[in-house]
Amino acid sequence: MTRALTLLSVSFFAALASARLDCKVPHLGGGQDDGPAINAAFKRCAKNGKVVLDKYYSVDSLLFTTGLDDVEIELSGTVQYTPDIAKWSPQSYYLTYQNATTFWFLSGNNIHLYGGGTIDGNGQVWWDTLRTSGSTGTAGGSSTTFARPVPLTVGNATNVVIENIFEIGSPFWNNFVYQSSNVTYNNITINAVSYSSSPTANSGTMAPLPKFSVAEIYILDGWDIYRSDGVTITNSWINNDDDCVSFKPNSTNIIVSNLWCNGSHGVSVGSLGQYAGETDIVANVTVHNVSMNNAQNGARIKVFGGNPSPTSTAGGGTGFVKNVTFSDYKVTNVDNPVIIDQCYDTAADVCAQYPSTLSISDVHFINITGTSSGKEGDVVVDIECSAECVDITATGTSITSPKGASVYVCANIESEDQLDFNCTSPSS
Ligand SMILES: *[C@@H]1O[C@H](CO)[C@@H](O)[C@H](O)[C@H]1NC(C)=O
Ligand SMILES: *[C@@H]1O[C@H](CO)[C@@H](O)[C@H](O)[C@H]1NC(C)=O
Ligand SMILES: *[C@@H]1O[C@H](CO)[C@@H](O)[C@H](O)[C@H]1NC(C)=O
Ligand SMILES: *[C@@H]1O[C@H](CO)[C@@H](O)[C@H](O)[C@H]1NC(C)=O
Ligand SMILES: *[C@@H]1O[C@H](CO)[C@@H](O)[C@H](O)[C@H]1NC(C)=O
Ligand SMILES: *[C@@H]1O[C@H](CO)[C@@H](O)[C@H](O)[C@H]1NC(C)=O
Ligand SMILES: *[C@@H]1O[C@H](CO)[C@@H](O)[C@H](O)[C@H]1NC(C)=O
Ligand SMILES: *[C@@H]1O[C@H](CO)[C@@H](O)[C@H](O)[C@H]1NC(C)=O
Ligand SMILES: *[C@@H]1O[C@H](CO)[C@@H](O)[C@H](O)[C@H]1NC(C)=O
Ligand SMILES: *[C@@H]1O[C@H](CO)[C@@H](O)[C@H](O)[C@H]1NC(C)=O
Ligand SMILES: *[C@@H]1O[C@H](CO)[C@@H](O)[C@H](O)[C@H]1NC(C)=O
Repeated sequence: MTRALTLLSVSFFAALASARLDCKVPHLGGGQDDGPAINAAFKRCAKNGKVVLDKYYSVDSLLFTTGLDDVEIELSGTVQYTPDIAKWSPQSYYLTYQNATTFWFLSGNNIHLYGGGTIDGNGQVWWDTLRTSGSTGTAGGSSTTFARPVPLTVGNATNVVIENIFEIGSPFWNNFVYQSSNVTYNNITINAVSYSSSPTANSGTMAPLPKFSVAEIYILDGWDIYRSDGVTITNSWINNDDDCVSFKPNSTNIIVSNLWCNGSHGVSVGSLGQYAGETDIVANVTVHNVSMNNAQNGARIKVFGGNPSPTSTAGGGTGFVKNVTFSDYKVTNVDNPVIIDQCYDTAADVCAQYPSTLSISDVHFINITGTSSGKEGDVVVDIECSAECVDITATGTSITSPKGASVYVCANIESEDQLDFNCTSPSS
């Protein structure tokens, strides 16, 4: 071959290799199931491909898109799951944490999902059923008759970017980051609003249920992160009724910034330490520039107390929470703007005898400002450890309560002198 021809063929093959295979997904219409066509497109375009979801898709079968390698997903249309409880409860994909199941398991390396489109969990029927059945059912796959799936799970995945999409009507957690690393969410809008006259997913005006609070039964967390490292969540708007973002066991190297959260349970570490014999780690978490509105909590850490039983499922786990910073936090109408509870869901006498064996250290509250709701009276900060918490600091704290001069409750904080407020001991 001549030199020119060689060069030509080299560049020809280079161009071929970089050409992205396009997989446009058709939609059937008439309420027919588009799930099989979506799965087929992901199979066809699994390597160096681009899957285009630019239509309205009615999805009645599990989306299981795994083994992806360098895949773009343009979601400019709508993926809407069918509101078929009898079908989805058994067929949604079971994950090993808290019996969660999912409508869509997205897995692989180098995945970019974007496009201005919508994932619609069609949550109304799930919320209504939860409400009218008068019980929590189960959160996930421990029931095959009523398992509420997560609309999008990034699982066993690395190097993932998800941006510019809407997520509405989730029956359960909106996003689950499961056993993954280097995952970024940017510009996500999450909304869960009920349109039925009786149950509303996130309104404080709903009649209380006999045993459970609204949030306890709906559990519409924005994000749950589990066994994952290097997760970024930024520039997002969340209107929900449970944790805005939740760091579950083994969430490390996390950055959360520029969020507007409404009606939630706050940005929350935990709960951790629930299971004896298990080690839970949350480390290197930065939460910066959050506007927290009409919420139960602002910045929260919750860890179970200790337990003498080696098989306890109500505390006694070990591990640590270390290097967690909450900064530039604006709270408005929040019940507990700052809260650390190291005796979470555990009786006080149990904690007194068996303090938590999951340590909390190196936690910093910087510039937490705003107003509490007054639900906890004049208490605006409540940081109580059952074992001693080390290197907890607060600077720039400025939180007022509508119920009087602010009170800061602390217990077992080694570094009380590093807090910019005066602590009061718990009353009980
Ligand atoms: C998961 O399911 C098992 C079996 O039904 C049940 O015992 C357990 O309480 C469930 N866990 C959660 C967190 O729902
Ligand atoms: C995810 O990874 C775990 C642990 O490596 C493995 O057991 C499981 O089968 C994987 N699941 C999927 C759906 O890839
Ligand atoms: C993380 O993922 C992004 C997006 O896929 C990629 O550009 C970046 O190189 C990854 N970082 C590491 C450390 O692998
Ligand atoms: C955020 O995403 C929406 C579509 O979901 C888009 O219209 C908007 O331009 C995006 N914002 C930025 C700053 O990219
Ligand atoms: C802080 O977050 C808000 C969203 O709550 C955003 O509008 C604003 O631009 C962010 N500020 C900075 C400096 O990034
Ligand atoms: C914020 O939450 C409050 C109380 O839950 C609700 O009344 C209000 O409509 C929500 N705001 C938005 C913009 O969704
Ligand atoms: C968390 O990570 C630690 C250290 O790698 C490990 O021992 C522990 O089993 C993990 N815990 C969970 C819940 O995955
Ligand atoms: C936390 O970050 C430090 C500094 O980057 C790093 O050395 C350490 O390994 C990280 N810890 C975890 C648990 O990832
Ligand atoms: C604390 O975590 C942040 C990331 O959230 C990281 O940049 C920093 O290096 C960590 N510091 C230490 C001392 O590990
Ligand atoms: C806290 O507020 C002070 C005063 O407004 C400002 O100088 C500082 O940069 C802020 N710190 C953070 C981490 O936002
Ligand atoms: C804490 O109490 C001391 C003694 O009563 C007082 O001098 C100090 O100003 C108080 N500090 C703050 C931040 O309120």
